[in-house]
Amino acid sequence: MRILVIGPVGSGKSTQAQILAGELGIPLIMMGSLLREIASKDTKLGRLVGNKMHRGELVDDEIVVETIREKLKTPDRKGFVVDGYPRTKDQLSMFDPGFDRVFFLSLSDNEIKKRLAKRARQDDKPEVIKARLEAYYQSTLPIIEHYRQLGILTEISAGHPIEEVARMIREFLDGNA
Ligand code: AP5
Ligand code: MG
Repeated sequence: MRILVIGPVGSGKSTQAQILAGELGIPLIMMGSLLREIASKDTKLGRLVGNKMHRGELVDDEIVVETIREKLKTPDRKGFVVDGYPRTKDQLSMFDPGFDRVFFLSLSDNEIKKRLAKRARQDDKPEVIKARLEAYYQSTLPIIEHYRQLGILTEISAGHPIEEVARMIREFLDGNA
């Protein structure tokens, strides 16, 4: 099964994608982590990616698409779980991983800010969180609507404890197996 976990900044996408990939025994692809790895290198590309991420802006579509394309060159027969791709309609039209199911983790801006205040990632400063949220509302919400219209979107209320959110996702999958 090809699964996408999508949602606003700090909604628990990576947390839930990791749990799900572990439970299903399929590969996990986290675009944010892949880009952080690129940004950690002292290369022209690394600096380009790092600058965007430090400002909370989306990394250029071409770089992101090339990165995921490479990762999915030989996809696992049993599928994969993706967190963080696509984030723009252009990315989707450049490369579509063909998801079977999309889990949308919904969370209020207030809860997001509370959660990220407890973490200390480099891009968790208030002004950068604001920019990341703006990118989400402007570029990623239309993708969510696209999947809703395709009829493959499952909205999960992410304002519950981690295990509870994981249980809701699992119950949906079990009920639709
Ligand atoms: P990315 O790393 O994907 O960041 P993000 O979308 O801003 O989301 P986060 O990773 O902060 O949150 P999350 O939803 O994964 O939640 P998490 O599980 O970590 O992307 C970073 C940057 O990379 C972007 O800003 C952009 O620059 C670039 N980028 C990435 N993809 C791109 C693309 N396709 N195109 C262009 N640019 C791209 O949880 C957050 C915190 O909450 C943790 O501390 C966690 O422990 C806690 N938590 C999780 N669940 C719960 C819960 N249920 N209750 C309480 N706490 C919880
Ligand atoms: Mg994440």
